[in-house]
Amino acid sequence: MAFCVGLTGGIGCGKSSATDMFAALGAAVVDTDVISRELTGPGGAAMDRIAREFGAEYVLPDGSLDRARMRALVFGDADAKRRLEAILHPLIRETSRSRIADARAAYVLLVVPLLLETDSYRDLLNRVLVIDCDEARQVERVMARSSLRDDEVRSIMKAQLPRAERLARADDVLRNDADINHLRAQVEQLHARYLGHAKAQA
Ligand SMILES: Nc1ncnc2c1ncn2[C@@H]1O[C@H](COP(=O)(O)OP(=O)(O)OP(=O)(O)O)[C@@H](O)[C@H]1O
Ligand SMILES: [Mg+2]
Repeated sequence: MAFCVGLTGGIGCGKSSATDMFAALGAAVVDTDVISRELTGPGGAAMDRIAREFGAEYVLPDGSLDRARMRALVFGDADAKRRLEAILHPLIRETSRSRIADARAAYVLLVVPLLLETDSYRDLLNRVLVIDCDEARQVERVMARSSLRDDEVRSIMKAQLPRAERLARADDVLRNDADINHLRAQVEQLHARYLGHAKAQA
């Protein structure tokens, strides 16, 4: 298996921005959000089971998941959420594992927003990188990008691991509190370090 760095961080901390920069430098990226959308897209590998479990009315004419309808269901129904996750999570994990195994780059970045909230990925990872920023900045960035209100962003943050716990579990922390150039400089440093780790392991 390739050397694998798990990348995570709270909502709006800059995971996607950092990931794009690592990819531009040549890291292979395996993104669990992307895999999840593929599994629930037209003809996706999760769709037969979702239709059987929840009914054909959750499948759009093109064969993809009716996301709005499913979101409305799981929002107020913890059991439905659990049943959906019982279908998706093992498929996402297995797809991630096989893509890491197939990767041809020097190392793989596995992007999992809730990486530290689960144990499922631990055995695939050599290191954990947390993208971190001040909570006020986190709220500001998410609000600038979406139509969410301050209190809505804060309630999403409450459902995630507290910042201090996330930081305590990191091997590497990227503080994304300054501008994009500062982010890029730190990504470049980490990339060089990961190339070194990967070489040492090979
Ligand atoms: N250093 C920075 N300076 C200014 N804006 C930034 C910086 N880093 C990220 N942003 C902006 O903040 C927003 C959130 O960043 P990004 O989408 O990378 O975070 P994320 O962690 O992937 O968020 P999510 O949890 O929603 O997936 C984006 O609009 C991005 O362009
Ligand atoms: Mg993102």
